[in-house]
Amino acid sequence: MNPSNHVRMVEVGARDGLQNEKTLLPAEVKIALIDRLSSTGLQTIEATSFVSPKWVPQLADAAEVYSRIRKVPGVGYPVLVPNLQGYQRARAVGVNEIAVFSAASEAFNRRNINASIDESIERFMPVIAQAQADGVKVRGYVSTVLGCPYQGEVPTGDVVRVARHLHQLGCYEVSLGDTIGVGTPAKARAMLRAVALEVPMAALAVHFHDTYGQALANILACLEEGVRVVDSSVSGTGGCPYAKGASGNVASEDVAYMLHGMGMHTGVDLDLLVATGAWLAAQLHKESASHVTRARTAA
Ligand code: HMG
Ligand code: MG
Repeated sequence: MNPSNHVRMVEVGARDGLQNEKTLLPAEVKIALIDRLSSTGLQTIEATSFVSPKWVPQLADAAEVYSRIRKVPGVGYPVLVPNLQGYQRARAVGVNEIAVFSAASEAFNRRNINASIDESIERFMPVIAQAQADGVKVRGYVSTVLGCPYQGEVPTGDVVRVARHLHQLGCYEVSLGDTIGVGTPAKARAMLRAVALEVPMAALAVHFHDTYGQALANILACLEEGVRVVDSSVSGTGGCPYAKGASGNVASEDVAYMLHGMGMHTGVDLDLLVATGAWLAAQLHKESASHVTRARTAA
């Protein structure tokens, strides 16, 4: 059992959340969201992703958003990068922490990044090497750790293999993603335990989507195993556009409420986080209403 009482919450709403919203939010609103999140006490806020805008149009404004957010000292603002092209775009606006991503399922990887698992890792090698040369921190994600929308069951051995590989390549932390939220606590615990035999627990994070309402229970099981880094999304927004049925991430407000209730520390001001979640929900509502109006006017 990990005796530490501190949990680092990694806020992924501005990236994982917004990448899957049907409503395209203006850059101004994304910037305001991240600035609000920066004042809640969160230490890590994933800001956006430099993937192909053809694949994820929601985040086509990554460079503008990253350039204009307020960078609070002591807060990390990692961005997702799928290849060298994305890395160069990110570096051009001063990014100093990136996240690379692969999956434990071949079928999902093919649909998400148009590559096999091994090809995706080969593609990341020069990115990670360049990042290391530039002093840029690299986080890694493994998706579909508890199930895949295309393949179904995902053997734990495949999760362990990809997580170990990303860690060996130099990812300081590997986040284990239940991309479609099909996991349940006993399975989540067993998966984490197996990965932790190969990658130190201190270098692992968990990332649950909440499709079947299991995310908090899964997080609790993983905390009991010793994990102390938890990804979540303010207001529970999001999902993955290339994972059929993926719903939002676990809500950051719920995670903070549970952790504080257990006597754990996050450094996050829950009231400010709740206010930010409510503000975001209102922005999404406002934008989707104005889309409808514009569509009706055009018709
Ligand atoms: P591809 O089509 O095989 O790439 O896509 P390509 O190299 O053949 O390039 C095609 C076109 O895209 C070219 O443009 C490139 O220039 C352009 P064209 O010549 O046709 O005009 N392009 C780019 N443009 C801007 N930035 C780039 C970039 N790369 C190529 N970085 C690729 C391969 C990886 C690019 C594509 O599949 C992609 O961007 N996929 C991203 C999908 C994605 O973002 N998914 C969601 C994130 S993962 C996730 O949510 C899971 C996670 O939350 C954990 C969990 O829940 O499990 C992390
Ligand atoms: Mg995700």
